[in-house]
Amino acid sequence: MKQAAKILIADDEQAITTGLSAILADEGYHVDIVGDGQKALERLSADGYGIVLADLRMPKIDGMTLLKELKAKQLPTEFIMITGQGSVDVAIESMRQGAADFIEKPLNSERLNKLKAQIPRLIEKYALQQKNRELSTRLENLTHYGELTGQSESMREVYQVIDAVAPSTASVLILGESGTGKELVARALHSKSERAKGPFFALNCAALPKEILENELFGHEKGAFTGSTNEKPGAFEMSSSGTIFLDEVAEMSPDIQVKLLRALESRTVRRLGGKKEIPVDIRIVAATNRDVQKAISDGDLREDLYYRLAVVDIYLPPLRERAGDMQLLAEEFLTRFASQNGKRIEGFDEDVMQWILTYHWPGNVRELKNAVERAVVMARGTRITQSDIIPRHLRSSGEMPAAVTIPVGSSVADARRQLVLRTFASTGGDIPRAAKLLGISVGELRAELVAMINDGDASRPAGGAAAPERADGSGRSGAEQEEGDDEDAPPAPPKAAAKGQRSPPPPPPPPAKGKPGAKKHR
Ligand SMILES: Nc1ncnc2c1ncn2[C@@H]1O[C@H](COP(=O)(O)OP(=O)(O)OP(=O)(O)O)[C@@H](O)[C@H]1O
Ligand SMILES: [Mg+2]
Repeated sequence: MKQAAKILIADDEQAITTGLSAILADEGYHVDIVGDGQKALERLSADGYGIVLADLRMPKIDGMTLLKELKAKQLPTEFIMITGQGSVDVAIESMRQGAADFIEKPLNSERLNKLKAQIPRLIEKYALQQKNRELSTRLENLTHYGELTGQSESMREVYQVIDAVAPSTASVLILGESGTGKELVARALHSKSERAKGPFFALNCAALPKEILENELFGHEKGAFTGSTNEKPGAFEMSSSGTIFLDEVAEMSPDIQVKLLRALESRTVRRLGGKKEIPVDIRIVAATNRDVQKAISDGDLREDLYYRLAVVDIYLPPLRERAGDMQLLAEEFLTRFASQNGKRIEGFDEDVMQWILTYHWPGNVRELKNAVERAVVMARGTRITQSDIIPRHLRSSGEMPAAVTIPVGSSVADARRQLVLRTFASTGGDIPRAAKLLGISVGELRAELVAMINDGDASRPAGGAAAPERADGSGRSGAEQEEGDDEDAPPAPPKAAAKGQRSPPPPPPPPAKGKPGAKKHR
């Protein structure tokens, strides 16, 4: 058999079906025949055919209806309409409905030759689309990919892009707020590629002083500078046939950017103090949490380097825009940390999950992960309660939430409750200020809060809403080769402080003494 894909002929005229099938079988194709549209539909629903050749006029279901049915049922096949003489209008209409082509009766040798020439191309198109369909179905229902967890539409799109670009050597730029998982994406790009056998080399461009970063990247020859008694290959050489991950790439100094651009263009590097051009086989994955356009217009990131780095870009949306992932992530972290801490914890109290789903997570997944870890450590019972997770978490910084995430499907009453509570929490329990922000009277707000507390379903705010200690700094710094996650390391000083990007969080607000909001409901 020439091709794996099969061909179906649907026609009630035996002369046509016999003739066509003989010709196509001669060409090496597997051909099946049915005598009416109904049977054709049944066969196509039950089995995959690369091409269907269907007569416009046939019993039960005509060709045009069959075509429409196939489209409506999303049954993939390439459709060729067999039309009677002079029915050009119908032929054109069938193409409009999605037919690949039409062939006019009588089937003379010229028309048959054209058909024969066309069939391999259509089968190839079908096979390619089939492959893409398989790929997207495979990724459609995924909740995990590499080390990434997430089932939201946007994460599944991310998985698809990673899957598609991982095998190539194209440079990838990963964009997204701090803690959204950029490094995990970089690792997935590495591990899903042929390069997985080679090293993954992570360098943080913001954490390393310029000279050290240059030395790490390009290496040096013996005697290149005072004290360099040995030669040292740089990351480019050491991770040849692997992947280099350049984190916080917009913080790289301008002259290293020039050298990097040169290395990317020529695929060679020169060590510091060296003359030799050393060829390297490298894939660069870079990441930044900055607004790239702004970094370019501020002169921090060279535009030509940006284009070289962002052959493909992957944007990771903030966690607050991925409501579909929050619960999954929270539960997974709970299981992980409970087992790490040898605790038996069954789940989150319902109001805790409610809070998790509505908090705006400025530190994204990292913040959620840290909050859950802390809660597990704090928990005394078998479920995580508000006092385990919220107060400790909110105490650690004075940052205020800027948004309330209300999942689709919430009632107006729920939305109102969340807005009231989040605003109230963001003011640190200051009723007059919260009332002013909400545009309602102090009395009204007080009454609402009392009603919520009495209902017992309030996501109790205490102190002020904020990010955890490490919402803004992963602790990773410097060069690191395939060492897994940094999260278990003790917190390091915030990265990129020099750029004013990740300054330490402001001090926590004073407890709102005597105010109902400061009351802890345990
Ligand atoms: N989708 C996810 N699934 C599981 N864990 C995640 C996910 N996203 C992030 N994390 C975890 O959150 C933490 C932060 O992720 P990561 O270091 O990849 O973020 P980042 O975007 O590189 O942040 P930064 O910009 O601060 O460097 C890590 O501990 C990581 O394991
Ligand atoms: Mg990172």
